[in-house]
Amino acid sequence: MDSSIEEIDDTESSFCSLWSTAHTKIDCVELFSNPNLGDDYFFNRLNIQANCSNISDTLNFIKNNHPYGLNNYYIHLIHNNKNSITKLNISKFGTMKILTLDINKYTTHGSKHVEIKVVDKILLNDWIDVFCRSFDSLETKNEVTTIFSQHYDKFTLLIAYYYIDEIKFPAGCCLLFEKNGKIGLYCLGTTYQFRRKGVARELISNAVKIAKNKGYDSIILQTLTKERFEEFYKRLGFKTLYKKILYTFYLN
Ligand SMILES: CC(C)(COP(=O)(O)OP(=O)(O)OC[C@H]1O[C@@H](n2cnc3c(N)ncnc32)[C@H](O)[C@@H]1OP(=O)(O)O)[C@@H](O)C(=O)NCCC(=O)NCCS
Repeated sequence: MDSSIEEIDDTESSFCSLWSTAHTKIDCVELFSNPNLGDDYFFNRLNIQANCSNISDTLNFIKNNHPYGLNNYYIHLIHNNKNSITKLNISKFGTMKILTLDINKYTTHGSKHVEIKVVDKILLNDWIDVFCRSFDSLETKNEVTTIFSQHYDKFTLLIAYYYIDEIKFPAGCCLLFEKNGKIGLYCLGTTYQFRRKGVARELISNAVKIAKNKGYDSIILQTLTKERFEEFYKRLGFKTLYKKILYTFYLN
């Protein structure tokens, strides 16, 4: 596998591990799980390495020994990965694209209605609230609070406020995570009532400025094609780097 893809993938795995209550390696499968985050294709996952043999035995072992209160895991497999998962009769969940933005070619925007702030500990609860509301997952708020109280200093968190008649409303969020000389943009969300008003574009603009100041040339992010945000990212200048095929692996 291309070493750059390996590094990007490892950055994604490190990010996921911070959200996991269980993270372990079983043969050539890396397992991440956190049942408190619900049925989440990004965090309850099995990453399968290239050229992995005996996947069937390993998956059966996981089924019997690592259920962790989940109904299913999501298998993440880099496209073109030469292994025999397709022979296992496991249903496809979707395609996740890993996109990159050349930040030297990016023209930053500005909106008089949107203010972006880097989140300090005082703003952390606002950020968590906006994140849970944007992703329609308020039931995970306690778990997200636990994760961020442990790992706050490993991320750069951004929050967006939207102004209406000089009153400001928390409206959007994202975070940056760095590893292997790569910087990833995660958790980009805008609350329902402030969508399509330029909030996410403004968050990305500020994320670009921060990444540039830190000396990076590009930003990476992941998007599931069936959620239909690819067009939104492509319009901002993101390009596809590689793809992953996701499968649902039922435990019962
Ligand atoms: C994806 C998301 C963050 C976009 O936020 P937003 O604040 O509405 O986006 P913006 O208003 O900044 O959009 C910027 C541009 O993209 C367009 N756009 C926004 N959502 C779009 C979509 N789903 N498809 C196509 N274009 C879209 C906007 O119209 C705008 O275009 P313009 O510059 O011509 O006006 C928001 O829909 C969201 O929070 N979704 C749920 C959480 C989520 O799944 N996040 C993505 C994880 S990959």
